Amino acid sequence: MTEPVIAQKAPYATDVEEGKSYFWCTCGQSGKQPFCDGSHKGSDFAPQKYTAEKTGKAFFCGCKHTRKSPMCDGSHNKI
Ligand code: FES
Ligand code: FES
Repeated sequence: MTEPVIAQKAPYATDVEEGKSYFWCTCGQSGKQPFCDGSHKGSDFAPQKYTAEKTGKAFFCGCKHTRKSPMCDGSHNKI
């Protein structure tokens, strides 16, 4: 397993809709952060599905090193 690319060392504050599913980019290579755009093809990475529990802002991890994926848990401060 290779290391993910750090897309940014901060979360992406993103509007999500209750009941809607999103595919968080785990590899860091997507051009459509924080979501997967298929750029992981040929790597060991795959997107992670997330279904929003409520409508509002969600803070998706941009550094790809969170331990509470797909959300930021503050780990970006340690990398
Ligand atoms: Fe990163 Fe798909 S582009 S997981
Ligand atoms: Fe990855 Fe905060 S952006 S843990």
